[in-house]
Amino acid sequence: MSLHIGDTAPDFSTDSTIGQLNFHAWAGDSWVFFFSHPADFTPVCTTEMGRTAQLAEQFAARNTKPLGLSTDTAAEHLKWISDVNDTQHTDLKFPIVADADHKIAMLYDMIHPEESDTAAVRSVFIIDPEKKIRLTMTYPMSVGRNFDEILRVIDALQLSDAKGIATPADWRAGDKVIIPPSIPNDDAKELFPQGWEELRPYLRLTDVG
Ligand code: BEZ
Repeated sequence: MSLHIGDTAPDFSTDSTIGQLNFHAWAGDSWVFFFSHPADFTPVCTTEMGRTAQLAEQFAARNTKPLGLSTDTAAEHLKWISDVNDTQHTDLKFPIVADADHKIAMLYDMIHPEESDTAAVRSVFIIDPEKKIRLTMTYPMSVGRNFDEILRVIDALQLSDAKGIATPADWRAGDKVIIPPSIPNDDAKELFPQGWEELRPYLRLTDVG
């Protein structure tokens, strides 16, 4: 099944490293960073799991719960977490769902047959508290993800929701943002009383702090 931005993230119930996990109930009112891995006890995945654990406070500050998936059992995940903690000098607390039968990987289109018939590629889903998919990214098995980018897109999505703005290329928290072209100048005056810099009528930059 192919999932798109704006779709409701499919619900599922499965075994995990914290026991039986119902996805929507577990997510509650939080944002979710749901990310898949080809297999336990593999090098790139080990560094990604470790990095996510190291960033626990950063995710919590964004009301975002990480949720890992690897196409192995919960018992294997638990053994692997010891290795992750040991080698990455961390204390992994977020759950990793079991998916030895690939049901969830298939539901989320994480199996890309030209890469592998049985192991998930490195998919990312950022899901909002309404359970809507807000961002997807897919990396091949050989390339570890950039976790600064994952935190950056969560910041951009949350700011866009709060202020009705868009973010330019390479935006970082605190940079100027874009007033969307759908907002006419008369409305923009009320919404952005701080004013804006108009490079073109369709390219207006403002500061939202
Ligand atoms: C890894 O995590 O290192 C990995 C897993 C599957 C294929 C290639 C790399």
